[in-house]
Amino acid sequence: MKTDKHFLSIAEAMKQGSGDVWIRGWVWRERGSNKLKFITLRDASNVIQCVIEKAVVGDSQFGIADKIQMEASVEIYGTMKQDPRAPTGYELAVKEFHLVGSSDSFPINKDQSVEFLADNRHLWLRSRKMTAVLKIRSTVFGAIDEYFRMKGFFEYHSPIFQAIQCEGGSTLFEVDYFKQKGVFLSQSWQLYAEPAIFALEKIYTISPSFRAEKSKTSRHLTEYWHAEMEEAWASFDQIIDHGEGVLKHIVKKVLETNQEELKILERDVKKLEPTLQKPFPHMTYDDALVILKKHGMDVEWGKDLRTIEEDVLSKLYDTPIAVTRYPKVVKAFYMKEDPKNPNVVLGVDFIGPEGYGEIIGGSEREADIEKIKQRLIAQGEDPKAYEFYLDTRRYGSVPHGGFGMGVERVIAWVCGLDNIKDAIPFPRTMVRWKP
Ligand code: 4AD
Ligand code: MG
Repeated sequence: MKTDKHFLSIAEAMKQGSGDVWIRGWVWRERGSNKLKFITLRDASNVIQCVIEKAVVGDSQFGIADKIQMEASVEIYGTMKQDPRAPTGYELAVKEFHLVGSSDSFPINKDQSVEFLADNRHLWLRSRKMTAVLKIRSTVFGAIDEYFRMKGFFEYHSPIFQAIQCEGGSTLFEVDYFKQKGVFLSQSWQLYAEPAIFALEKIYTISPSFRAEKSKTSRHLTEYWHAEMEEAWASFDQIIDHGEGVLKHIVKKVLETNQEELKILERDVKKLEPTLQKPFPHMTYDDALVILKKHGMDVEWGKDLRTIEEDVLSKLYDTPIAVTRYPKVVKAFYMKEDPKNPNVVLGVDFIGPEGYGEIIGGSEREADIEKIKQRLIAQGEDPKAYEFYLDTRRYGSVPHGGFGMGVERVIAWVCGLDNIKDAIPFPRTMVRWKP
């Protein structure tokens, strides 16, 4: 065995295109005869066909290659050649072949049920599909950070164990906190982020949020990654602009970075381009009801928009849309009452195109302590538990607002996935918390 092995990734080896290279990875496919063996090798960067001839590598190495199982890990030395018949256009003529880790018979092969793949999620992550999604996911997280830092925001962290609800008691996960009651997993960073704008003014985070969602839908997880921002002195319109800005930046970065992955996922990139090119349509809740009525859907004023209504709206546009000024009764206690109409709030939902539903929810924040207390009471909450939060309105309160973006919902949309579960490595839902 050579000692001066300098490994290239498969992508680097393909870029080099000729000469002798060392590569390493996992056996993705294998077939062959007793003299000639074809192994398609996979690493994080790509796959490549490797040809192993007994006459070249000798009996001992060929013997190992001949018995190799899918997903065994190997190191290979050979000559790169262009070959239009090979799956990725290149072939490696193998000169040396070394087994690193043998593999038991890999449980995942073709046509397995969704349940089986979910049970074997730890192995399914190696699939071409999941690898592509995970790369795009990495781009999305990077783009969110980049956008907010570019705009002068500080990264800031709220606790995950929280003592109050933010988004309604019905989806709270209560934890056994040393037998103490009233400790919950975070639904949102927001109530612990607002106190920090008095120090940092512009802040953001990407953190897990938890919702005890009893619905089994293609858009709900019980644990999801939540990108949130909060900004002092910001107007409602400025908050909405950041929503549009960060979504555009995400799509831009994915289109720049992940063309190969989008191809593997068979994503029609034309469907993403309008998001970059066009301003997003804005409409009020009232406008939305008029549009829905034209499409045969009667929504009684004061009812929240349901999935079916969001889907009808979303299919009318090729970019996300911003729906504003929802009835106060359907929105969270902290959203600012519209000074022009006390029945609605300065809240916004961004609804993704192609039926991907609500991808961002945000608002300007109510400044009036009495109004906040009344709305907490109307929700069955004891305002006393919120004293620390109400202090944000007592000591130099300023206009401010923010939003939260469901990162997996955005990834599902960008990747064109059927289900949000494939946007996260180990999805958690009401019925799935293992492995
Ligand atoms: O609309 P939501 O509930 O808003 C908040 O939590 C605010 N406190 C955010 C803020 O202003 N800082 O949630 C925000 C977003 C939704 O628009 C949706 O994209 C996503 O979080 N989301 C979920 N994603 C996956 N699974 C779930 N169960 C989700 N619930 C909400
Ligand atoms: Mg919402």
